[in-house]
Amino acid sequence: MLSTSIANIELGNPLILASGILDTTGNMMRKIAGYAGAITTKSVSLNPRDGHKNPTVIETNDYMLNAIGLSNPGIDEFIDEIKIVKKTKKPVIGSIIGCNEEEFAKLARKIGNYVDAVEINVSCPNIINEKIGQEIGKDPELVAKIVKKVKDSVHIPIIVKLTPNVDDIVIIAKAAESAGADAITAINSLGPGMAINIEARKPVLSNKFGGMSGPAIKPVAIADVYKIYEAVKIPIIGTGGIVHGKDAIEMLMAGASAVGIGSAVYYRGNDVFKKITNEMLAWMKKNKIKSIKELIGVAHN
Ligand code: DHB
Repeated sequence: MLSTSIANIELGNPLILASGILDTTGNMMRKIAGYAGAITTKSVSLNPRDGHKNPTVIETNDYMLNAIGLSNPGIDEFIDEIKIVKKTKKPVIGSIIGCNEEEFAKLARKIGNYVDAVEINVSCPNIINEKIGQEIGKDPELVAKIVKKVKDSVHIPIIVKLTPNVDDIVIIAKAAESAGADAITAINSLGPGMAINIEARKPVLSNKFGGMSGPAIKPVAIADVYKIYEAVKIPIIGTGGIVHGKDAIEMLMAGASAVGIGSAVYYRGNDVFKKITNEMLAWMKKNKIKSIKELIGVAHN
């Protein structure tokens, strides 16, 4: 009932752990993998990065702000962590982040033998003084150049994760598709956002600004997926503010073939995947839906 596919990867259920959530070590990812349809790793760069100082995350009922700053041990060390989660036999999507097409291609070649697909992160909002993340993902030509080069470098499916922080996300999605992307993840975090500690009279995050995620961004994610679905043929992993089964159903109706789960792990625990799939199944039973494939894109009819 819940099976779906993304770029020829078969998923037992449509819920994919989004990049950046409890996915910095193999054992953390292995714990989550039990009920998830697939796992996306933390974005990894060629060389180790320290990231920003604490505090890096703020959690409220309505939204989260994060500015981790891409802390990761670098690709060579991270491959050992990926090997651990691969033992679960769940599909693993390796998220990579670089500054130009050569870096992305090198990362894709290094990670390519250990993952089922590669996710090109051109949408991290948290680094402002380097051409990386959304500073690349706002430029359709740069995105196309990177996708082409990665496509020429590996034989696994290529997913491109887009930023919502652009005038028209459809232009970027079309550029990615034309360059050979096999799927799109939409959206990465919104913003930047800021929270100020009024007692201390200063921003809470050490980086001051952070990307916004959680329930408050769901309408933006739904709208962006809806627009992208009308413009491209490749499948979409709809991500942003999905916390309950009904949110996931809404995201499928907007046009997503699979659904990213990020902040919801903080709100509802590691077994959020089981909770959401049970809620989806209950809704489907009540509405006499046999397969989630009957729901993908129906809001466009
Ligand atoms: C970070 C945040 C993101 O939204 C992202 O896509 C990658 C990295 C971070 O701050 O580490």
